[in-house]
Amino acid sequence: MERLTERLRLVPIGRQHAGELWRLHWDESVAAWYWGRYTAQQAERVAATMGRGWQTRGVSKWLAYDRGSGELVGRGGLSYKTLVGAEWLEVGWLLRREYWGNGYATEIGRAGIDFAFGELGAAEVVAFTEPHNARSRAVMVRLGMRYQREITHESDRYALYTITAPSPG
Ligand SMILES: CC(C)(COP(=O)(O)OP(=O)(O)OC[C@H]1O[C@@H](n2cnc3c(N)ncnc32)[C@H](O)[C@@H]1OP(=O)(O)O)[C@@H](O)C(=O)NCCC(=O)NCCS
Repeated sequence: MERLTERLRLVPIGRQHAGELWRLHWDESVAAWYWGRYTAQQAERVAATMGRGWQTRGVSKWLAYDRGSGELVGRGGLSYKTLVGAEWLEVGWLLRREYWGNGYATEIGRAGIDFAFGELGAAEVVAFTEPHNARSRAVMVRLGMRYQREITHESDRYALYTITAPSPG
């Protein structure tokens, strides 16, 4: 289930990737958006949950590696998420700080959307972020996603974006 994009190798996250997740969330610029750095236990829990997602639902997040250097760039892609009382395919992204500003998050997001509308046959994909996360909102816009409204999820406010599958033909 690996996937190649122009510049990235996307690898399904499993419980063996706890160390990579911990490393990504150690980055201060990343941790600021996730209530602080991951503990080792948190990284293990998230890696295990993502691994279960791949096993039971056939989809979860990827780790993204630079195809040229092999360096860890970030993570992202799809997962099922319950938001505003319904289950959606959600696409997301996160990059190590030194990789911001090169279009990598957009590349990961596009791979997720292609996967959803291609292999998974989904009708719609959502993305959400804190209203003041301008960089993440800009990725959504670059991907052609449309702002819908603000929602409340687990007591916090988020901006919700959607994209629908292109009509056949
Ligand atoms: C959100 C986040 C992933 C966005 O990263 P990003 O680097 O701004 O987004 P992209 O990778 O799409 O890069 C876009 C930038 O690269 C530029 N760019 C260069 N080459 C590009 C290409 N081939 N395609 C698209 N953009 C390109 C764009 O012009 C844009 O530049 P700008 O920031 O000066 O406007 C990053 O800020 C991050 O990891 N934040 C912390 C975690 C987080 O908030 N995650 C989201 C939670 S919902």
